[in-house]
Amino acid sequence: MTSGQSSTSGKYYIGLMSGTSADGIDLALVDFSDEQAKPKLVASYYQAYSGEFAEKITALYVPGDNEIDHAFHLDVALAHLFAQAVTDFLTQEALNPSDIIAIGNHGQTIRHRPSGNNPYTLQIGCSQTLATLTSIRVVGQFRRKDMALGGQGAPLVPIFHQQLVPQKDSACFVVNIGGIANVTYLPKQGCSDTVLGFDTGPGNALLDDWFNQHHQGNTKFDENGAWAGAGQVNQALLSQFMQDDYIQAKAPKSTGREYYNLDWLTQQLSSINNDSDVSITPVDIQATLVAFTCKSIAQSIHALAQHGNVYVCGGGAHNTIVLEQLSEYLTTRFELNTMDALAIDGDQLEAMAFAWFAYAYDHNLVSNMPAVTGAKTTCTLGSLFLP
Ligand SMILES: Nc1ncnc2c1ncn2[C@@H]1O[C@H](COP(=O)(O)OP(=O)(O)OP(=O)(O)O)[C@@H](O)[C@H]1O
Ligand SMILES: [Mg+2]
Repeated sequence: MTSGQSSTSGKYYIGLMSGTSADGIDLALVDFSDEQAKPKLVASYYQAYSGEFAEKITALYVPGDNEIDHAFHLDVALAHLFAQAVTDFLTQEALNPSDIIAIGNHGQTIRHRPSGNNPYTLQIGCSQTLATLTSIRVVGQFRRKDMALGGQGAPLVPIFHQQLVPQKDSACFVVNIGGIANVTYLPKQGCSDTVLGFDTGPGNALLDDWFNQHHQGNTKFDENGAWAGAGQVNQALLSQFMQDDYIQAKAPKSTGREYYNLDWLTQQLSSINNDSDVSITPVDIQATLVAFTCKSIAQSIHALAQHGNVYVCGGGAHNTIVLEQLSEYLTTRFELNTMDALAIDGDQLEAMAFAWFAYAYDHNLVSNMPAVTGAKTTCTLGSLFLP
């Protein structure tokens, strides 16, 4: 084990994730003690953010005034919320801090600029504060070493998908539809292809942003795609979306909310409105955004294999319209299911992955994938923070 391992009798790792949808905190309690078995999800916990807190996070996705103060106050505020969630979770499970070997803290991405000059990625939710408040070792800053090695620092989860999803005699794809959507390609058994993965484009990000622009009230997203389902896909707008630079770029690639946001959409809408006499109604735009999410995912999958199994996870797996459209855009040679079909909880997968990254840190395991991120070499990701 890596130095810094405490003399804890702990048995479990906690994975802690706050995704780009800024909906809330996901915690997963994972048992890796049986090395012959798949990682076991023991329990999970979710703490939603208040609307006001979510706005503080999303305000930092794009450049604004006095960002340093805002970002680093939020760094600590988030750590306090994370620590409270860990404490409540332990109480719920009748566990003590000493039962936990470490927390894998992904944190909250507020900016991801993986290309150009001096690329960087920024996750906040201070791991040192979290360790001190919980009295539990924390492994955090998972994306940095991959980036220092010239990689995108994202997506990181494909290596965990590879371990969790059983190999089959046809290709498997794991599609995580969070704020941004990412796909992992797991080649069929005996195939010499490498595991690949990349962000396909927006997942729920634009759906949430556009929905909120047109709806007041407590619901922060288009539940089951009811609003999108009442609209018509505008084919001209959809093909313009599909021409977007990020969609056209080749992997390795990753993206974030600094790119796919209302400014991006406003620009897209102004170019289509300039070309057409009829403006598109808000509900049709929502339907077209769903189509964009699904078509960009399907196109990425078709580029990698001609048939196989597709398993959907993340919040988008709860959106009926997203699942319907994804199934329409995929050719009939793909079978589409949610992760339930593999008896895996698709809502906990990301949090479970960060529990594994902490475990991998403790055991000096390789945890990045150069074929996915573009890093020069393999490495063990993460930095340790002691209570
Ligand atoms: N019943 C539902 N109907 C429609 N959309 C839903 C439903 N449940 C969740 N969602 C969508 O899922 C989003 C949350 O998904 P999730 O937590 O996977 O994203 P995330 O936090 O961005 O995760 P990550 O970035 O780690 O992939 C919500 O913002 C919403 O858009
Ligand atoms: Mg989330």
